[in-house]
Amino acid sequence: MVSIAVVNQKGGVGKTTVVLGLTSAAAQRGIRTLVVDMDPQGNATTGLGVFEPTRSIDSVLVEERPGGLRATVEPTGWATGCEPLPMLAASSPSLAVREAQLSTDPLGAQDRLRLAMRGHDVPLVLIDCPPSLGLLTINALFAADAVLVVTEPGAWAVDGVGRMLQTVDRIRMRRPDGGPEAAGIAVNRLGRTRDGRYWNEQLIAAYPDQCLPPVRLRAAVAEAAARSVPIHAMGRRPGAEEAAGEFDVLLDRVLHCCGCHDLHDLEHTSEGDI
Ligand SMILES: Nc1ncnc2c1ncn2[C@@H]1O[C@H](COP(=O)(O)OP(=O)(O)OP(=O)(O)O)[C@@H](O)[C@H]1O
Ligand SMILES: [Mg+2]
Repeated sequence: MVSIAVVNQKGGVGKTTVVLGLTSAAAQRGIRTLVVDMDPQGNATTGLGVFEPTRSIDSVLVEERPGGLRATVEPTGWATGCEPLPMLAASSPSLAVREAQLSTDPLGAQDRLRLAMRGHDVPLVLIDCPPSLGLLTINALFAADAVLVVTEPGAWAVDGVGRMLQTVDRIRMRRPDGGPEAAGIAVNRLGRTRDGRYWNEQLIAAYPDQCLPPVRLRAAVAEAAARSVPIHAMGRRPGAEEAAGEFDVLLDRVLHCCGCHDLHDLEHTSEGDI
């Protein structure tokens, strides 16, 4: 198993979109995937076609519940043509209140998600994070094997990514296993403007080894999320095939960075704890 936290403290850069695109690419390749929606906004939950979740990740964060994640997992609504059907640990608005409550735990409450995921056995886990560095994101960083930073190619993106990577370094100092690994930086919503190219070049110059192949700005990507449809099922919608191909490449690169070179590696590591 490999678990990846998809992060950036900046809002609206495409964290959820990248989670949805990678989930679609993984299903296409036959990889069983669990999405954990740690954002009270619940955009990954609705993007995966779940509008009235019966359970929520909030219920396992309320106190230490080793292995508790299993009780919250439900199938996504991506039924049509999406096999294996991705699974979801849904968000709920109450997560926002939970974050405040977690901060009152005298023992520290940064590892409740890690405890809840213990023993959970699924090849790929993608954790969608809220746009903040609060305890929900920190829980994701304590739980994940690897971290994928998503950014737009815009002003201050380099600084924002730098701040995020500093936080990841601080988590590494505190985790006994030295994790999470860096899965890379996904540059999302790259347009064909001079401005977009300029900021993309700035990111590549600042992080030459970490920038992954970009995901371009395409209406089909936003439309797939809004319609709760996997990008690979958008058929002949202009740009959908190209976008699906970009998520395929991104998934390959992210898994490669996590040491998974083929499906066998994912299945092979799926028995351990995280
Ligand atoms: N590659 C893309 N092409 C076109 N639209 C995109 C692309 N990526 C993201 N968007 C759109 O940009 C908006 C923000 O994306 P998204 O919700 O994924 O960002 P986020 O980082 O998860 O936001 P938040 O911080 O609020 O959770 C959405 O409307 C989404 O559809
Ligand atoms: Mg989001």
